[in-house]
Amino acid sequence: MDVLGVTARLADPLTPYVDVDRLRPAGPCWVVANMVGGLDGSAAIGGRVAALSTAPDAALFLAMRTLADVVLVGAETIRREGYGPLLLPRGRAAARRAAGKPGSPRLAIVSRSLDLDWTGRAFTDPALDQPPYVVTCQAADRQRLARASQVAEVVLAGDERVDPALALEELARRGATVVLTEGGPTLLGELVAGGHLDELLLTVSPLMGGDPLPVAVAPPGAPLTGFALRHVLREADTLFLRYERAEADRGQ
Ligand SMILES: NC(=O)c1ccc[n+]([C@@H]2O[C@H](COP(=O)([O-])OP(=O)(O)OC[C@H]3O[C@@H](n4cnc5c(N)ncnc54)[C@H](OP(=O)(O)O)[C@@H]3O)[C@@H](O)[C@H]2O)c1
Repeated sequence: MDVLGVTARLADPLTPYVDVDRLRPAGPCWVVANMVGGLDGSAAIGGRVAALSTAPDAALFLAMRTLADVVLVGAETIRREGYGPLLLPRGRAAARRAAGKPGSPRLAIVSRSLDLDWTGRAFTDPALDQPPYVVTCQAADRQRLARASQVAEVVLAGDERVDPALALEELARRGATVVLTEGGPTLLGELVAGGHLDELLLTVSPLMGGDPLPVAVAPPGAPLTGFALRHVLREADTLFLRYERAEADRGQ
């Protein structure tokens, strides 16, 4: 058993995450999830994540977007958290452009109902340099699909529901190599169950008593998936854990 040591302070919260080898995904693109949970595993407080997050977690949350081509989010998180454009600080955006990427990652919203606010900032903010993707399925309402396609690029991936494997293939076909999912727990549970999650960043926040919603909700019949701990960081009472899917579970 190791004792968690005190290490040097990190000027940039992104430093330990930049050099991770994300070139060998289990599927068509590397899928990394960034989540925060309380000590009891709760993923929200009063239906929102803000009260769970500490300042260093919020900094890492924003910084991780620098490494992503696409930020994949479930519709319920969009409805509750009110996403806007995924703008990065000027220096980080410039570094991405210098590496031949767009200045910010593209948002991709997963939804069957398409019950989304099409006038919201995620779709209409003048600062958006590319419209978000809306990832949905053939069973989606035709009128809502037409409305979605006015403000987003619609990606059809599945019949009755979005098939995560097809969705990732479609995103990879559009050039995504790193997909960052910011949840929520339902979407994350589906990604894990399908064997698509390559990497998990889990912040453990020093709180208990949040909503009875775990960080990932496994769909019925989901198999167990093993993960290997790659590093642990600490800032005051908050822990930052980085896991990768265990080798034994890869390529299934
Ligand atoms: N702790 C954290 O790190 C964290 C991160 C994110 C969110 N949260 C919290 O989590 C809560 C929301 O999470 P949630 O689990 O309820 O919802 P969620 O995963 O954000 O979104 C679920 C919705 O996504 C769509 N969806 C997911 N899988 C789909 C599929 N296979 N096919 C079609 N549509 C699919 C559906 O949208 P439609 O209903 O539109 O069909 C579904 O209702 C909020 O309280 C939020 O604050 C916490």
